[in-house]
Amino acid sequence: MNEYVPGLEGVPATKSNISFIDGEKGVLAYRGYPIEQLAEHSTFEETALLLLDGQLPVAAELAAFDAELRNNRRVKYNIAAIMKSLPATGHPMEMLQTAVASLGMFYPGSERLTGPNAWQDLDYIHGMSVKIIARMATLVAMWEHIRNGYDPIAPRTDLTYAQNFLYMMNGREPDPLIAKMFDTCLVLHAEHTINASTFAALVAGSTLATPSAVVASAVGTLFGPLHGGANERVVEMLEEIGSPEKVKLWLDAKLAAKEKIWGMGHREYKVKDPRAVILQRLVEKLAEHRGGKMSRLFDTALALEEAASARLAEKGVYPNVDYYSGILYAEMGFPTDQFTSIFAVARAAGWLAHWREQLRYNRIFRPTQMYTGEGLRHYQPITDRQ
Ligand code: COA
Repeated sequence: MNEYVPGLEGVPATKSNISFIDGEKGVLAYRGYPIEQLAEHSTFEETALLLLDGQLPVAAELAAFDAELRNNRRVKYNIAAIMKSLPATGHPMEMLQTAVASLGMFYPGSERLTGPNAWQDLDYIHGMSVKIIARMATLVAMWEHIRNGYDPIAPRTDLTYAQNFLYMMNGREPDPLIAKMFDTCLVLHAEHTINASTFAALVAGSTLATPSAVVASAVGTLFGPLHGGANERVVEMLEEIGSPEKVKLWLDAKLAAKEKIWGMGHREYKVKDPRAVILQRLVEKLAEHRGGKMSRLFDTALALEEAASARLAEKGVYPNVDYYSGILYAEMGFPTDQFTSIFAVARAAGWLAHWREQLRYNRIFRPTQMYTGEGLRHYQPITDRQ
């Protein structure tokens, strides 16, 4: 095979039984369970275990996993010290990549990944997955306080994953409905087949790099605005538009300039992303909960979706997961530049599930290229060059 496919569109990079997308029908399933059912009935803890182990857990298994997560929330003092030495103006995703990578310094174990039976060492593989998934939320919330010059709020073990994150961010126990909605957001963001960041995780994992290095590679890849960074841009874009009446002119100008509309379009989906459908409903539910009060961002987003669909539907460009998640996160009070790190907190479960799956039949990624450079030529000493 020697055809070059830009962006590897349609090129299978692995075999996986973790998640499935039907982009024509708007279907997403984790381990065979439709995302709508998981959003309705599951929790982040259960979904993470489903992704890692492949089956819905029985009650005792879930309780044990939940306890492991709760007991792994604290991060070492030295990691807080590293974070305190970073510039407060830095982006939370750069911080997260640094902090996750630093976990590898404190929890070494690369020797446990070599050898033909390494994939069976669940003590290490599961143990490290728990350590990373539990600590991701702590790192993101800690940074919110550290960068503002305050001491981080210590995690609690009596709260669920979602509740504890909201508590660590805001310093108070969350409204139960908001905590439930946030939990659903984590479920929706936990996994999404072989996207750019998961591919990055697999490439790093294929070298038998440690799981902290694998997740750090993925976090760096998620950062970009064509991937996870889009949720942050969506809110900035809606603020720039200002109000629903201004949508049409704004859109005309953007499309005429061949610019992208943030939070729209997807390599896999040619219809509205099923996660965007659920997130939109959550935004509506939150507005109801608040007695109909909702920022103009939502009205503007609805107007933009309608106007954009008249112009972009023929290209299969519809809202993706990032379109409504940013509005929801803004309404939950999260700073805009934390949206992508919150996405990463949830996605760590998917990245680590793929890492674990790949270890079973690992082969290092080493694609080829189509060389387009010079033929062989003679080196000229600098004094002979013109
Ligand atoms: N706004 C306007 N037009 C868009 C668009 C968007 N958000 N997304 C895709 N298109 C158009 C492209 O301009 C292109 O049109 P053309 O054929 O006339 O040149 C066509 O749709 C195909 O887009 P392309 O960029 O080739 O698709 P891709 O599969 O390479 O890229 C994304 C997918 C997600 C990177 C792309 O849709 C995008 O940049 N979206 C905005 C960023 C975003 O929200 N990312 C989060 C993804 S979850």
